[in-house]
Amino acid sequence: MASRKKQRTKQKTPQETPPKDPRKTPPQGVWIGALATAAVVGYLALDREASHRADPENATQVAHGAELYAAHCAECHGANLEGDENWQMPLADGGLRAPPHDESGHTWHHADAHLFAYSKNGGKDMAPAQFKSNMPGFAEKLTDGDIWAVLAYIKSRWPRHIQLRQDRLNSPGG
Ligand code: HEC
Repeated sequence: MASRKKQRTKQKTPQETPPKDPRKTPPQGVWIGALATAAVVGYLALDREASHRADPENATQVAHGAELYAAHCAECHGANLEGDENWQMPLADGGLRAPPHDESGHTWHHADAHLFAYSKNGGKDMAPAQFKSNMPGFAEKLTDGDIWAVLAYIKSRWPRHIQLRQDRLNSPGG
């Protein structure tokens, strides 16, 4: 008998949840509006970030970069990123011929920030003073977003394992 009594006292009457007040639920339109706003804000944030980095997975950025590459870089670095035929042989004046931007060159040995600065300012700012660089700066011709797009295109042409190796240079401490 005693045990039964104990059981009884343990049992709790389930709390009744009050029915939802329909006036407190916002109409559907408000939700849709809020979602749409969040989507637009998110898109803009992504878009702004994308224009300050070279993303080989971003098809729009890569396509834009491909056009710019053909117009501004191909004459020296090769239409197919193959570089000057004798790129490893320095010129008589000690200057260099344009290296390939594909995986056979050394572009991927550098972090994005270096490639960006080299493309924007040219070799004169980057190389030692006595070295006569033949790489022009593109600060006057291309916006920062354009330069990131060209780099996205160049990166998109590397095989996956090269992309991953170069990407490690971009992370701090890598
Ligand atoms: C007039 C020829 C010429 C044009 C046009 C040119 N480059 Fe170059 N580029 C060179 C040469 C030559 C080098 C080798 C280094 C040097 O001389 O400073 C070089 C080097 C580079 C490097 C450094 C690569 C490394 O491994 O250190 C990058 C990055 C680069 N070029 C990007 C570009 C991009 C992007 C464009 C187009 C927007 C471009 N170049 C257009 C001639 C050119």
